[in-house]
Amino acid sequence: MKIGILTSGGDCPGLNAVIRGSVLKGVISYDTEFVGFRNGWRGVVEEDIVPIVRHDVRGLAKQGGTILGSSRTNPFEGEGGGPENIQRMLDRNGIDAIVAIGGEGTLTAARRLYDEGGIKVIGVPKTIDNDLAATDYSFGFDTAVQIATEAIDRLRTTADSHGRCMVLEVMGRHVGWIALHSGMAGGAHAILIPEQPQSIEQITEWVESVRDRGRAPLVVVAEGFKFDDMAEAHSHKGLDAFNRPRLGGIAELIAPMIEERTGIESRATVLGHIQRGGEPTAFDRVLATRLGMAVVDAVYDGAWGSMVTLRGTDIQTVSIADAVGTLNQVPQSRYDEAKILFG
Ligand code: F6P
Repeated sequence: MKIGILTSGGDCPGLNAVIRGSVLKGVISYDTEFVGFRNGWRGVVEEDIVPIVRHDVRGLAKQGGTILGSSRTNPFEGEGGGPENIQRMLDRNGIDAIVAIGGEGTLTAARRLYDEGGIKVIGVPKTIDNDLAATDYSFGFDTAVQIATEAIDRLRTTADSHGRCMVLEVMGRHVGWIALHSGMAGGAHAILIPEQPQSIEQITEWVESVRDRGRAPLVVVAEGFKFDDMAEAHSHKGLDAFNRPRLGGIAELIAPMIEERTGIESRATVLGHIQRGGEPTAFDRVLATRLGMAVVDAVYDGAWGSMVTLRGTDIQTVSIADAVGTLNQVPQSRYDEAKILFG
């Protein structure tokens, strides 16, 4: 059996650990041969294929990024796109199955290739946002939370020195998991997430109560946060390759509003792609390795059109059709729990 692996969409710490887990499991348990498609689906439609042998994955669990490269290419577009062209390409190269590691867009495309052309593909979910409902946690999330928490710790010392209010913006697109977890870990005085719009009056009330206790306020805001009178999240950077608004910059709106209303000198920090770079945490390495190993079993089980997920502490296989399309949002109970500590 020859398996082709690809990593697609925004990168995320742990992608290399999945590749390593799959290759080791396949080589040891099934004598599988592996190739990689370079730059996500682009490598599939452009037939850009590299061999992966056991030696290539040595020491890879801790390496950030992806050795295969990534892109946001749509596999239904371009000369080599669509299920018929892709099947011909697979036959030409003797590839029996595709393992597609990606987020919602990648997984949806994988399922469509299976539904419309019988392409033998199985998915591995990845996203730092933790926004996929089918998996309790996605690898990359824990690393992003760790990086954001370190940023909060650092901002607190400089905030204390100057008696300033710091507003830290973290990623997460339409969900507030990174903000909620890093904010709680770092002891933020307010956590603003997309699922819970707030007024500027409420935010300044929290900030002033912190100042009145003699502390320097620290606010964590998710990039997708909306004030209660905003219909859409703040976006001023145009659209991404999937025509979705590129988010980022809400902290730079909030900090001056706080300063104007409270008189507390305020600064904004947008953490950005630092959250996606560098070494994965041990948790993410373990999760990614287990998913990488499990997807090879799923290939040998012929579970086409499905993906591997984490449920509790178990790795399971679920249909992609049932798994995508629902956002894993922060539930009200988790926000209420955190909110007790605001202000
Ligand atoms: O989905 C992961 C993510 O990092 C989001 O949190 C963020 O909004 C987006 O990707 C940024 O995308 P890009 O890398 O294309 O700027």
